[in-house]
Amino acid sequence: MAKYVGVLTAGGDTPGLNAALRGLGKSALGEYDLQLIGFYDGFRGLMNDRSVILDEQRLSGILTFGGTILGTSRDKPHRMPVGEKLLDMTDAMLEVYEKHHLDALVCIGGGGTQKNAYRLMQKGMNVITIPKTIDRDIAMTDTTIGFDTALGIATDAVDRLHSTAHSHHRIILVELMGHNTGWLALGAGVAGGADVILIPEIPYQPEVISEAILDRVRSGKRFSIVAISEGAITKKSSEELETLLKQKKDARDKAEKQTAVEKIEAWQNMQANKTISLAQELEELTGLESRVTILGYVQRGGIPSARDRLLATELGTAAASMIVKEKYGSMVAVRGEKMEAVPLEKVVDRRRTVPLEHSWIKAAKRVGTCLG
Ligand code: F6P
Repeated sequence: MAKYVGVLTAGGDTPGLNAALRGLGKSALGEYDLQLIGFYDGFRGLMNDRSVILDEQRLSGILTFGGTILGTSRDKPHRMPVGEKLLDMTDAMLEVYEKHHLDALVCIGGGGTQKNAYRLMQKGMNVITIPKTIDRDIAMTDTTIGFDTALGIATDAVDRLHSTAHSHHRIILVELMGHNTGWLALGAGVAGGADVILIPEIPYQPEVISEAILDRVRSGKRFSIVAISEGAITKKSSEELETLLKQKKDARDKAEKQTAVEKIEAWQNMQANKTISLAQELEELTGLESRVTILGYVQRGGIPSARDRLLATELGTAAASMIVKEKYGSMVAVRGEKMEAVPLEKVVDRRRTVPLEHSWIKAAKRVGTCLG
């Protein structure tokens, strides 16, 4: 008897999602006789039972499209905005799962999606996940769909900023995505030859950066490119946050905990516009004119790179074979040259940050890049 499989894409979109849907779908239909039902807009579509049969025709011609034909959202099953409230809608999702007689649900998404899929697994659904995010921060997988395309776009930006920074003798700071990890800024910074790379894993000191820039000026280089990750913070801010987190942990009652939470929120608000503040500070410290480019969503847009299409096709087809083998409750992970099923317990509540001894960091240091 044919098996029925649901699929959804959740979290921020990335190039390569359609390639993953196509890989999963073509293999599911052609190799294994699985029927595929897509749910629109992430977990919200599952809750509302907004679905579409993903047949051969719908899966055709989408390999190179950016975004996701299913749409996406950041809605969480256990905290779903319904009217004015945030409600736990996991039971409603289970009903839809059962109504469609699904044998499995494939969730394609980032760190948050892995956790949400894990919650549905705990409700009794047979879940398989595929890792995607331009941040490359999901635990237990070497890489994720979308990272390579975003890396190419970010590197191109760093490349292009060189000529204008050089012509105007300016410092240009380019803020790159990556959430709380520095893979994208580090990768694009090294590949694009940024003079300074700032990532969340290495809190920075503005004085160290200005010294490095002034050193360049002394050697006749009157411009500098600073690749800064959106999650990068100063050493001072990082120490402040540590103190606040400790206060929250040590809170003796509800009121103390609430105060600590409010202070953390205030700290988070202070982080907004930090790239612009750093540019101003560097201008004052070095006497060089500074400019900021915030690359933003362009890093997630457009056609996937060849490498992302390959990865998505491999992960999608591997997910189909895992359904047939009933390896439920796992993420299809890239481990070296292989695609492996990793239990979701090992993936959730963890983040893959850049290790300080990573070869990209070593390479950056060896070519004289300042890391703040
Ligand atoms: O996780 C991918 C990502 O693009 C991050 O790099 C960024 O911090 C975040 O999503 C932006 O989120 P949103 O799409 O909700 O604005």
